Amino acid sequence: MTPPPAGSLLVATDLRKAYGPTTALDGAGFSIHPGEVVAVMGPSGSGKSTLLHCLAGIVPPDSGSITYNGREMATMNDAQRSALRRSDFGFVFQFGQLVPELTCVENVALPLRLNGTSRKEAERTALSWMARLEVDDLARKRPGEVSGGQGQRVAVSRALVTGPRVLFADEPTGALDSLNGERVMELLTEAARSTNAAVVLVTHEARVAAYSDREIVVRDGKSRDMERVI
Ligand SMILES: Nc1ncnc2c1ncn2[C@@H]1O[C@H](COP(=O)(O)OP(=O)(O)OP(=O)(O)O)[C@@H](O)[C@H]1O
Ligand SMILES: [Mg+2]
Repeated sequence: MTPPPAGSLLVATDLRKAYGPTTALDGAGFSIHPGEVVAVMGPSGSGKSTLLHCLAGIVPPDSGSITYNGREMATMNDAQRSALRRSDFGFVFQFGQLVPELTCVENVALPLRLNGTSRKEAERTALSWMARLEVDDLARKRPGEVSGGQGQRVAVSRALVTGPRVLFADEPTGALDSLNGERVMELLTEAARSTNAAVVLVTHEARVAAYSDREIVVRDGKSRDMERVI
């Protein structure tokens, strides 16, 4: 990897992580600017999800450095890291991971409720995000009553409702057909750009990566910038 450019929001250098005998990360690097969408590509098992989990402060690397806003993550304790995740990061996974007992609007409002926002205020903000993701008409349905693509757009609304500086998305369209996948990506990137949130987008699919500003490839736990051929 080339050295991270000045002004990067999240920078990782020389990350190493092993699970027993399995090397998941073997000197991987990463950097992202505010508002930038970076696609992380590479074959299955290459270390993409491990890289995302390390960057998000969910999994500690064995060695290497991760700085967010100039602050070294390893110097934070667990409580500080989870506070950072709540305040500054949003997450979308392959399967929306919505709470099945709650309605869609309650799911989207949940991060705000957990931060102490009143129900009325939280649901108002939730509905405005759902409108941007074109799922506000599903507000009172439960996740089991909506389609996969709709559920992912609800999950994206939930990830953005707190105004995160970084949105981490691990195969957000992996369970969708290409048409639904493209609509989710269009709305996700549009919403992220409108708030200047950076997006770390893990994907197998070139057509999903095409929504990014820059692509990196992870192979055998090592990362490199990919030249985009236009
Ligand atoms: N919790 C874990 N325990 C043991 N091994 C793990 C764990 N998480 C990941 N690994 C191993 O680390 C390597 C990298 O896994 P990772 O999930 O990061 O790959 P990936 O690129 O996201 O793959 P995929 O595209 O299939 O999601 C793999 O060999 C995997 O089996
Ligand atoms: Mg993965």
